[in-house]
Amino acid sequence: MKILTVIGARPQFIKAASVSRQIDLRDGVTEIIVHTGQHYDANMSDIFFEELSIPRPDHYLGIGGGSHGAMTGRQLEAIETVLLDERPDIVLVYGDTNSTLAGALAAVKLHIPVAHVEAGLRSFNRRMPEEINRILTDHASDFLFAPTETAVANMRAEGLSAGKIHLVGDVMCDAAIFYKDKAYPPAWFRESGVEQGAFVLATVHRAENTDDPRRLRAILDGLATAKHPVILPWHPRTQARVKQFGIDVDPKIKIVEPVGYLEMVWLETNSAFIATDSGGVQKEAYFHNKYCIILRDETEWIELTKNGCNVLVGADRKKISYAIQNYDISNLHNNIYGYGNSSSLICDIIFGTI
Ligand code: UD1
Ligand code: UDP
Repeated sequence: MKILTVIGARPQFIKAASVSRQIDLRDGVTEIIVHTGQHYDANMSDIFFEELSIPRPDHYLGIGGGSHGAMTGRQLEAIETVLLDERPDIVLVYGDTNSTLAGALAAVKLHIPVAHVEAGLRSFNRRMPEEINRILTDHASDFLFAPTETAVANMRAEGLSAGKIHLVGDVMCDAAIFYKDKAYPPAWFRESGVEQGAFVLATVHRAENTDDPRRLRAILDGLATAKHPVILPWHPRTQARVKQFGIDVDPKIKIVEPVGYLEMVWLETNSAFIATDSGGVQKEAYFHNKYCIILRDETEWIELTKNGCNVLVGADRKKISYAIQNYDISNLHNNIYGYGNSSSLICDIIFGTI
């Protein structure tokens, strides 16, 4: 049996690491990895393959940058060519990026079954490119691997068939558990003057935050009111926009280049708390028992805001400032996202069916 995995963006490498490890344990299965090239800097791509021992991509398409239509269209065409050549039994896609949609569309049009990991997430904000990618990918898929009950309910509400939906937990929980003890501090941490446990870890990269100068300024100004120093590994999109808009970042915010996953986990576990607009980092805060301030107006991971582990503050300087002075860590913990065996469940379901 041949399974073809399409990945292309940072969070997908991390999600695929756990599932690929499980695939490798199964007899009679070959995994072909297609990297679209959506993320291409060494610290946004290569580092994850190296440190997480993800098999090298069999096909690297080199398609990153450009508008949504251009990127998705070019990826669709290139993935179709690979599929015609490889003839896999199933195509595996992750999350909600343009690479996810391109992989799902290319496969479904060739009548190849599609499995979607992290299916059913909804922000109900159709202006987010990710929301459109998720909805279309779910509706093109044959296997819908939902991380939460909420995700299952969202898909049932859209009329997706119960037979396709499998509640398996979250593969990022698998990664958090598997790699936690392997984490280490970034080389620059010791000389940074920042104390372990006494910093805010922040990430900002969502298009709706970075591409709007008012929102980006409000977020950076709000973060600068923290009593602790703030460490911000900045995504290339954020880096470009801060320069383009001529924003002066307060020196309290220590800007660093994107870090590897093992360094990121160390920063998460050693932070006082986390502020982020990242989907993955919101959950990792919970996995590592940290309070999290979400720099967005809504979230797909509503279990965490409902039980008080995370709080939504949008791009409102005052709300951010209030939340970072008054965070409450009394509500943390239980097993909302499974037990670290989601990747294994996904393989059981796929290989037990196909
Ligand atoms: C993408 C996903 C988003 C996900 C994020 C993870 C879509 C629509 N968005 O957003 O859902 O949360 O990845 O990080 O798929 N760039 C570089 N070097 C890189 C990667 C990107 O310079 O290694 C530049 C690109 O050229 C582009 C910009 O950053 O100009 C944004 O990249 P893109 O992949 O379009 O979107 P992300 O914001 O990364
Ligand atoms: N991450 C990382 N280095 C960084 C920032 C994030 O390894 O400098 C990891 C983070 O731990 C999480 C994933 O990247 O596992 C989240 O990806 P991102 O925030 O880019 O995308 P999203 O989850 O919002 O789609």
